[in-house]
Amino acid sequence: MCGIVGYIGAKNATPIVLNGLKRLEYRGYDSAGLAVLTNGHIEVRRDAGKLERLAALVEADPVKGKIGIGHTRWATHGEPSARNAHPHLSTDSDFVVVHNGIVENFLDLKEELTAEGAVFRSDTDTETIVHLVERYYSLEHDMTLAARRALKALKGAHGVVLMSSHEPDKIIAARIGNAGGVVIGYGDGEMFVASDIPAILEHTRRVSFLESGQMAVIRRTGVEVFTLDGQPVEPQIHTVAWDPIAAEKGEYRHFMQKEIHEQVRSLTDTLAGRVDLDEGRVRLPTLNLDEKTARKIQKIVITACGTASHAGMVGKVLIEHIARIPTELDIASEFRYRDPLVDENTVVLAISQSGETADTLAAMEEARKKGAVLWSIVNAIGSQAMRLASGCISMQCGPEIGVASTKAFTAPLVDLYLLAVLLGDLRGTLDEARRRKLVADLALVPDLAGRCLDRESEVAEVARSLKNTRDALYLGRGINMPIAYEGALKLKEISYIHAEAYPAGEMKHGPIALVDRNMPVISIAPLDPWYEKMISQVEQVKARGGVVVAVATEGDARVEGLADHIFWVPETPWLLSPVVTVIPLQMFAYHIAALRGLDVDQPRNLAKSVTVE
Ligand code: M6R
Repeated sequence: MCGIVGYIGAKNATPIVLNGLKRLEYRGYDSAGLAVLTNGHIEVRRDAGKLERLAALVEADPVKGKIGIGHTRWATHGEPSARNAHPHLSTDSDFVVVHNGIVENFLDLKEELTAEGAVFRSDTDTETIVHLVERYYSLEHDMTLAARRALKALKGAHGVVLMSSHEPDKIIAARIGNAGGVVIGYGDGEMFVASDIPAILEHTRRVSFLESGQMAVIRRTGVEVFTLDGQPVEPQIHTVAWDPIAAEKGEYRHFMQKEIHEQVRSLTDTLAGRVDLDEGRVRLPTLNLDEKTARKIQKIVITACGTASHAGMVGKVLIEHIARIPTELDIASEFRYRDPLVDENTVVLAISQSGETADTLAAMEEARKKGAVLWSIVNAIGSQAMRLASGCISMQCGPEIGVASTKAFTAPLVDLYLLAVLLGDLRGTLDEARRRKLVADLALVPDLAGRCLDRESEVAEVARSLKNTRDALYLGRGINMPIAYEGALKLKEISYIHAEAYPAGEMKHGPIALVDRNMPVISIAPLDPWYEKMISQVEQVKARGGVVVAVATEGDARVEGLADHIFWVPETPWLLSPVVTVIPLQMFAYHIAALRGLDVDQPRNLAKSVTVE
């Protein structure tokens, strides 16, 4: 959570930092601020609320300089207010910090520093960092050494960016633990630092990443990276393929709507180079998987949070059905506290859009300690979940900015299908004809997704008639049961409507008591092996006066006769059906939230990357 940006070069840092923050606002929008070094002193502008308030402040009271840092906040310690907004200054205002993470020992540090004379001006834990740097600078007279000593005194996980008027030729950045990434951007006579790639993409595609326990001293001309013990480290520079335009809204009203529509492209890219239609085979070279390892696997545990965990629920069905390997979905925030039963014959597969979700990373660490093989399916290039794993499938989504995940849900569904087919092939659980059929079906996916998108106006019409509902129930079975969870999550998080999801067969054990004429029941009933069961569920809901919104296969007269509203999806091989059934539910949630005038891309209380526990 929290977005960080820094710039050092020959240009005015203020607009560069502001633009970078704009690209990161999805990481937190409780407050925003920036600090610029100007005429030998540090100027800070900051305010509560969204970035536009900071932009207005800067316009009213401009500030210019060639080195600057900025921050968008998702509050942890201290209410979202101007005084708690980052950046935070030291007592004599010669040092300034922005921070992502939680200083777990901040109360002890604050007491010590206050006793020494430090003047705290906020309620944040972050402020202790800058006072520590000031303390150590008075002893070391060297910013790098002072920062190192300060960083070593912190407990918890952190992304930190600092600068000082004493040494105006540098920015210091550090990463400790899994509080989110720190990416360094290489320009021509200028350098950038940020918590996420989109912030710097318009300036450079050449980037390196800090590992946990590393600190960077960034100058106009380059960067030196050290461990916190002062050992030099050679940074590895990567070239990011993402197009900067991908992080723009373009013709769409919201990023979420744009990202829903980008699914045809992201699904096409997901298949590119991985599907050999002539051979009827799947290739996933970055997974580093050979036949011997594939045959050794006794169990797969998928671990993830939120939307990614719903993709994992589908993954369980796919892997068990296609590759016949026992597979579990384990919510990442629960996994590590349960002394999970994994060993060297278990694969722990993490799914994460950001690759920086604290709970998912902690689950991976736990699995590693227990000797499991670690794989990941990740969107953010260079993220920790990508680097921790011995094999990774990279989602081909490009940046996802809307807080509600959409294209980063359907891409891993296909990645999991690819994985299941590859495992089935390597372990010999698939005969050639079946393997070829499974692979051939994949080629249909982008077009099927496009046909769902073509029906957006029909979905919007249903959204108009249900936009004032207070509750909604989502039902699904089998491979489409996770889609009920995903549909409900989309509705809750952006429209603030209470939505519950159930495996449809569970209705009779309690939830059916909720059904009356005010309760829309979204029933996912495509032509899949659970179709008949779903139909009888829909009948039961109708018999109790519920309003049924069905997701159904085009031409299905039975559902047409039963449901009050229908989201039609094209006929799709059932193992791939979740990719199409979820799309109308994404559009439904989007249109309801937009019709209610809500902030679709930045829903209240949420942040895109959840880097705190
Ligand atoms: O970056 P990750 O995929 O690890 O994020 C996991 C969840 O925080 C995320 O999917 C969240 O549930 C989304 N807001 C859902 O739309």
